[in-house]
Amino acid sequence: MARAKSVFVCRECGGESPRWQGQCPHCQAWNTLAEFRTGEGKGSAQRSSLTPPSLVQSLHQVKAESLQRLSSGLPEFDRVLGGGFVPGGVVLLGGDPGIGKSTLLLQSLAQVGKQHGVLYVTGEESPEQVAERARRLQLSGAAVDLLAETRLQAVEAVIRERQPQLVVIDSIQTLYSDALEAAPGSVSQVRDCAAQLTRLAKSGGPVMILVGHVTKEGTLAGPRILEHMVDTVLYFEGDGSSSYRLIRATKNRFGAVNELGVFGMTETGLREVSNPSALFMSRHAQPVSGSCATVTLEGTRPLVVEIQALLDESRMGIPRRLTVGLEQNRLALLLAVLHRHAGVSCGDQDVFVNAVAGVRIGEPAADLAILLAIVSSLRNRPLPPGWVVFGEVGLAGEVRPVQRGLERLREAAKLGFAVALIPRANAPRQVPDGIRLITVERVEEAVQAYRDGS
Ligand code: TYD
Ligand code: MG
Repeated sequence: MARAKSVFVCRECGGESPRWQGQCPHCQAWNTLAEFRTGEGKGSAQRSSLTPPSLVQSLHQVKAESLQRLSSGLPEFDRVLGGGFVPGGVVLLGGDPGIGKSTLLLQSLAQVGKQHGVLYVTGEESPEQVAERARRLQLSGAAVDLLAETRLQAVEAVIRERQPQLVVIDSIQTLYSDALEAAPGSVSQVRDCAAQLTRLAKSGGPVMILVGHVTKEGTLAGPRILEHMVDTVLYFEGDGSSSYRLIRATKNRFGAVNELGVFGMTETGLREVSNPSALFMSRHAQPVSGSCATVTLEGTRPLVVEIQALLDESRMGIPRRLTVGLEQNRLALLLAVLHRHAGVSCGDQDVFVNAVAGVRIGEPAADLAILLAIVSSLRNRPLPPGWVVFGEVGLAGEVRPVQRGLERLREAAKLGFAVALIPRANAPRQVPDGIRLITVERVEEAVQAYRDGS
């Protein structure tokens, strides 16, 4: 047997170094190198490629058969996957402990199990505990094969023998390979086990779902390289205080990323929420200042979200700028635009901005809504009732159009908003029924429209 050699793998970028260093020489991250032992047996990940050697063919010779997707049995889950599981696909599902990963997967397996062979490999819980959860979910009679096992080779043997179509590994951190000496959960074990399972899936095996733990920074534990290995990376997240759970794709070889599936956690498991927009609005009996509704696009789905701002006289030398669910730097930029172009100064104010219900907004379409929420809080006067606002704001004070404006308008109209304040370039020829448009090209115009309306 070859002598074991060590390399050090960065958790962030997957880059390798021959010796331990405080800083990764590839991505300059600190304290991310972990030891990875190689050459410890035949099973080592680097030895064989993922697929057997194939012939070179030209692209037009390859028949593009549309892959028959396997439905997860939960439409919201399917939506995030881009329409269901792809045969041979490997999905990594991350999320905080207790958020409901095992619950979601058990519910999905029970549905898929009605027609296909499914296997649930549990390394964290005993079969009794899984059965107890199934009883709670009223799924005791479900046709789900259960395997309490943490040894990779044993899991592989069972998969080869029973040939299930869908396998859940809960979790990848508990699995270990005999071929390595490292402890379960270590970088080398996680990486090797994931590589082996991926290889199995790619060579005509089942759809593989790997549950992954997240670190306290919120990224998937284990080397970043896991994310490169798999086809789809999903995060299951939620606000600790609410029962809503969002499932989000951050990487998907077979569908749109940032697609969002919405569930509510109930006494009897996860229930799908088909009209999530209503969820991201807090219901006020009276209009309140500092609140502005906007429509963001999560993947392919428009979502109405309430933006809240609170301005308060600062008691510190440097006023605070704090955002929840929105980008902090964006807020500083918007405040500068507001000052320079609309003459609204917040220099002596602490500014807090929040997207309601724990939703995260990554696109600039919420800019204009953030601005108006800030102005509204500063003036302590609510926006006129029934307003919804979207548009990107540029440094020159211009209001830029956002993509798929009509779909956003339709979603707002569906929820009963009466007035939409939007970029002029987004004005559609045919305005959806029940909604009136105010179109603007500059932030000054938007602030003026708010003053006139309120
Ligand atoms: P679980 O699926 O075990 O989380 P994870 O696998 O991500 O660690 O979910 C556990 C939580 O879900 C627990 O706090 C209880 C709650 N729960 C319900 O509210 N209703 C239910 O029907 C079930 C099964 C769990
Ligand atoms: Mg679990």
